[in-house]
Amino acid sequence: MTVTDKPGVRGVPAEEFDVMVGRLNKLSVERHFDAYADIDWDNPELALDPADRRFELPAIDPLRHSDWYAALPEAERARVACYRWAACMKTGWHFENLLQRGLLRHAFELRNGAPEFRYLHHEIIEESQHTLMFQEFVNRSGLPVRGMPFGLRKLAEWFVVPLARVFPTLFFLFVLGGEDPVDHLQRRVLADPDTSLHPLVERIMRIHTTEEARHLSFARHYLHRTVPELGFFRRLQLALLAPVVLGVMARLMLWPSGDLVRHCGVPRHVVRAANRSRAGRQLLKDSVAKTRKLFRELGLITPFSTTLWQAAGLWDKDAK
Ligand SMILES: [Fe+2]
Ligand SMILES: [Fe+2]
Repeated sequence: MTVTDKPGVRGVPAEEFDVMVGRLNKLSVERHFDAYADIDWDNPELALDPADRRFELPAIDPLRHSDWYAALPEAERARVACYRWAACMKTGWHFENLLQRGLLRHAFELRNGAPEFRYLHHEIIEESQHTLMFQEFVNRSGLPVRGMPFGLRKLAEWFVVPLARVFPTLFFLFVLGGEDPVDHLQRRVLADPDTSLHPLVERIMRIHTTEEARHLSFARHYLHRTVPELGFFRRLQLALLAPVVLGVMARLMLWPSGDLVRHCGVPRHVVRAANRSRAGRQLLKDSVAKTRKLFRELGLITPFSTTLWQAAGLWDKDAK
């Protein structure tokens, strides 16, 4: 199928979209969290010490299975794991900050009565709460995590945030690119019997997963609603850009950051081997599985774009 063909592409009718947005609005009121009221930061059980043995890399992280990590003393292993979470959280709030700016930009253009206006502001508020809890964790860890690389931050500010006005569907692809891999990682970690989590990390993750489910639902419905109405060139842009965007975003969210590697003294070859391991490559593919499925449903996976998905390391021939 080419991007010009739309048979089988099921758009979401406006009424159905409005009902979905209404449901998300209701859930945002009934089930939301406050970074300070809902986390008992000063509870001694949740005390944050990077040398705390309760910090351990999760089993899903290929770095945990490296000989280098296994050979570290327990306190050092804990420090690497704590740095890993703190680095994820700093990157997470950088992403959320950019996301909020885009959502505000998008809301700024909406007409009176637009059903998504209220939802966008619920999401912005929730992302602010996430940013507060992530930065509080970083501050309490005392670790010098950097977050998103400077160049990517600037590129996102200049080119991605303005998309929320000029090409919002592409903007929401970036949203999925950041949120889907993180959601995948969090759900796997929370469900994994071989991973014991520091209780503070677990509390933050449970709050985050609950609210991100709504954000992901909105972004997916938004694409379902808008893609079938796009012209040929915009659909082509989405089809070709998706594997590139997701390839960059999934690595940003899942791979150990450069500052972690330097700060914790992880040998480069160890990081490379972990990222390129069978488990590492599968994690990358699985982390975008839902967005890949969405793109297939939208008729945005073409023979040519398939080669891009493969080149980006995101194509899973065994996946449906
Ligand atoms: Fe978030
Ligand atoms: Fe989110």
